[in-house]
Amino acid sequence: MNLMLFGAPGAGKGTQAKFLIEKYNIPQISTGDILRAAIADKTDMGMEAKKFMDAGQLVPDSTIIGIIKDRLAESDCKNGFILDGFPRTLAQAEALSELMSNMNISLDKVISLNVPDELIVGRITGRRVCSKCGASFHVEFNPSKKEDECDYCGGELIIRKDDNAETVISRLEAYHTQTAPLIDFYTKMGVFMELDGTKDVSEVTADMFNALA
Ligand code: AP5
Ligand code: MG
Repeated sequence: MNLMLFGAPGAGKGTQAKFLIEKYNIPQISTGDILRAAIADKTDMGMEAKKFMDAGQLVPDSTIIGIIKDRLAESDCKNGFILDGFPRTLAQAEALSELMSNMNISLDKVISLNVPDELIVGRITGRRVCSKCGASFHVEFNPSKKEDECDYCGGELIIRKDDNAETVISRLEAYHTQTAPLIDFYTKMGVFMELDGTKDVSEVTADMFNALA
């Protein structure tokens, strides 16, 4: 199964990806997580990307497309994958189509988690992420069982550098101007599907599994 989770920052892509991994036993490919790992490793690519991420802007297409090309070639992707936070521009979507066509595979579904902007700021500012596995929690809406400890791997929960009220505004603007046009692209491809992302985490998961059944 080749899936894509689509939606604004804070829509719940990372949260729902964890349930898809468990159910379908396929890897999550989060460009945001890959970039944050590169920053932690202080690679040249990570240091360059950091400037854009801290400002809430998109990282240049050439960097992102290179990351995805390498990642899709890894052996754990052969039975499928979950794209999370990629593609975010038309150029990225077109590059993905070309890559997948060269691999003789196609997208099964693009699942859009719809959440209005006014709910996003509260989600982002209350988020805690695992420093080890990247899992997302929320102090109020989706708390971890033990404070500051990841339910999945026991890693330390931290606040993402770009999770502040100012950067969220830029990230939402980037989403509406550069990423939302992909709705039309994937609707025309016949794979686009929308879910109400404002429901509780478990209800969104149930809707998603029903839609994929
Ligand atoms: P990235 O890491 O992808 O961030 P994002 O798209 O801004 O998305 P988020 O991770 O913030 O949100 P999410 O949808 O995963 O929500 P989550 O499940 O955590 O990208 C970061 C940066 O990297 C970008 O700004 C850009 O600079 C760069 N980048 C990455 N990919 C790129 C690309 N392809 N091209 C160019 N640049 C790129 O949930 C959010 C919160 O809400 C959590 O606290 C969670 O617990 C809570 N929550 C989840 N679901 C619910 C629910 N149903 N009800 C209540 N609360 C919920
Ligand atoms: Mg995420």
